[in-house]
Amino acid sequence: MARPPRVKKWFAPGRVNLIGEHTDYNMGFVMPVALDMGCTVRSSPARRKVLHVSSKQFPGEMIFPLDVIPSMRRTGAWVDYVLGVAQQLVRLGVDLAPAKLEIDASVPTGGGLSSSAALEVSSALALLDGRTLPDLEIARLCQRAEREFVGMPCGIMDQYASVFGAEHKAILLDCRSITHEYVPIPDGVEIVVANTMVKHELGSSAYRQRVAECQEALSHFPGRESLRDVTLADLERASRQIPEIPLARARHVILENQRVQDFLAAARRNDLAAMGRLMVESHRSLQHDYEVSCEELDFLVDTALTLDGVHGSRMTGGGFGGCTVSLVDRSAVDAFRERLTTAYQQRYGLTPAIYTCTPSAGARRIA
Ligand code: GLA
Repeated sequence: MARPPRVKKWFAPGRVNLIGEHTDYNMGFVMPVALDMGCTVRSSPARRKVLHVSSKQFPGEMIFPLDVIPSMRRTGAWVDYVLGVAQQLVRLGVDLAPAKLEIDASVPTGGGLSSSAALEVSSALALLDGRTLPDLEIARLCQRAEREFVGMPCGIMDQYASVFGAEHKAILLDCRSITHEYVPIPDGVEIVVANTMVKHELGSSAYRQRVAECQEALSHFPGRESLRDVTLADLERASRQIPEIPLARARHVILENQRVQDFLAAARRNDLAAMGRLMVESHRSLQHDYEVSCEELDFLVDTALTLDGVHGSRMTGGGFGGCTVSLVDRSAVDAFRERLTTAYQQRYGLTPAIYTCTPSAGARRIA
């Protein structure tokens, strides 16, 4: 009797970013936390020289001959994240084996919690099937898959957080040196994520535009490699030459990098009030200078800030919908959830999904 095919399971987490938004592609600082929600890939060997890919969240199974993967172009569907990763692995000399990949995401898709990075990283592990690559190489190849194959000029934060997540810890990532340190989360508070349940269409085009606007601001500083090398004083000196919009974008990036440093110092001394203040400043800057927030995100933040036990609240991720992140006293979380839900329902007729996050380990084999 034939033996049933060997099934393995691989998991990669989504992330929530505590602070440091739209700084990663400017070589700045970010502080994400890997979640216990993410993406699981169940892999089993396949007979013919093909890759079968299916997802519990989307109908249908897709089949790709292994020999066409290296020359494939994006299809415009979710499977591009898997194909892009497969293509990057081939470029690194990995010999892909015929396999059946069954995908199941527990992180909401398109909700700003890095469902794409979770899919990329879990697919990379499944396709590697136990062959090892350095962790950083996995994060980078997944980022390249998204930039080159999917066509989204993202930074490294999401893939990095998915690979390097750690229990009970946030990750302070320096996106220039691509090195990190772990930061303990103060006791007694929860990281609470609230999902607006909306995703405004301009998201990806606006992202590209922000990347370009930062480049435009940088072009006024010949010889500097990134906005990381520009100080607020430099920006003020050049402010007459730089058009208003790129100037405002650069101001956000420069101040946001400083906020990450200040947040780190505040976390180390357990100063929740300062951490909360910095989160709110970050939100206001994303709202007014970077212009990536939206009405629903602002409403969730503004409402959260009226509730008891809330230290701070801000939008998280790329923006234009998706989620907010708040630091809430553990004892106040139930009331927070209830009040925020009621207020949002009354205003928008939508029920926001609210999650209490458990900072979790990075991508791994789970069975
Ligand atoms: C998206 C991108 C990240 C980062 C954030 C904004 O999540 O994938 O690289 O730029 O937006 O901070």
